[in-house]
Amino acid sequence: MDENTVTKKIMLSGIQPSGDLTLGSYLGAIKNWVDRTDEFDNYYFMADMHSITVRQDPAALRRRTLEQLAQYIACGLDPEKNTLFIQSHVSAHAQLGWVLNCYTMFGELSRMTQFKDKSAKNKDNINGGLFTYPALMAADILLYQPDYVPVGEDQKQHVELTRNVAQRFNGIYGDVFKIPEPYIPKVGARIMSLSDPTSKMSKSDKDPNGSVYLMDKPEDIQRKFKRAVTDSDTERCVRYDPQAKPGVANLMTIYSAVTGRTFAEIEAEFEGKGYGAFKPAVGDAVAETLRPIREEAQRILADKAYLESVYKAGAEKASYMANKTLRKVYKKIGFVAR
Ligand code: TYM
Repeated sequence: MDENTVTKKIMLSGIQPSGDLTLGSYLGAIKNWVDRTDEFDNYYFMADMHSITVRQDPAALRRRTLEQLAQYIACGLDPEKNTLFIQSHVSAHAQLGWVLNCYTMFGELSRMTQFKDKSAKNKDNINGGLFTYPALMAADILLYQPDYVPVGEDQKQHVELTRNVAQRFNGIYGDVFKIPEPYIPKVGARIMSLSDPTSKMSKSDKDPNGSVYLMDKPEDIQRKFKRAVTDSDTERCVRYDPQAKPGVANLMTIYSAVTGRTFAEIEAEFEGKGYGAFKPAVGDAVAETLRPIREEAQRILADKAYLESVYKAGAEKASYMANKTLRKVYKKIGFVAR
């Protein structure tokens, strides 16, 4: 069959521009998107609507949304092969989000770990959006009928809820939505903070030494890895044991994800060398992986007209797909066509 007549499977994911992208966002999500770009029909977006569930500075949100787009492209997402768009540009997300709110149960939403975490961190702003966020995320996904949703471990629960909501809806109205699968990397699904290996590396971490950002300079990356918290055991050898040695296990995970080496190979490489040699080696490997991304992102960011052309074309293509699904849903639930 001619290549153009084969329908590719669909891959879709998004990231909130609620902070600068980290090594966690890269290894848990973006790297997987880039690695599979030719095999799938791809939709990747900046989830700005999700970001406002936590109060944002408007100018910073606007700046980070465009920076994130430049970084997606710099990581290797070619806009010719990937539909890159801004969530709020495609109104079908808000429209299907409302519909799916009415098919998502209070009990289901109450069980979401992210809601529990974020409401504990933002006690003065536990708003309705924070609670119903997973229904909007289900809409983000189901609008595009994707086969796979490539995310880190922490988003698996939301993709599972999406599947449940889709199955419930299909059970009432027939096969409207494709049931998507989460697609989680084998190594790097949960990168931990460098200063506290028991908590996740996060865009919104207040401690700048805990997170490595895609736009960090190589010398800052090296410094952060040299200062990374390892473990207080007397053994001081590089061995993969996430329970007893969570700091070393996290560094090994990062090293494995960026070099492709297995844990056994890493243990052999640092046999008898201790943390003093291991930590700077991880720092160098990460700095070299991120250097070209940072340089390319800076170059792209300077070209505002190009970025605008990418997100406009992306919004158009995404809207076409999304509105097709939305029309079907509106018809099924009994809304009168305009
Ligand atoms: P967000 O913005 O928190 O994270 C973006 C992606 O990066 C992954 N990730 C990590 N992976 C490994 N280790 C880490 N430390 C780490 N930190 C972040 C996340 O798992 C995620 O894949 N709700 C989503 C955004 C979203 C979305 C969607 C995703 C909105 N709509 C539809 C997929 C499909 C979120 O808050 O991700």
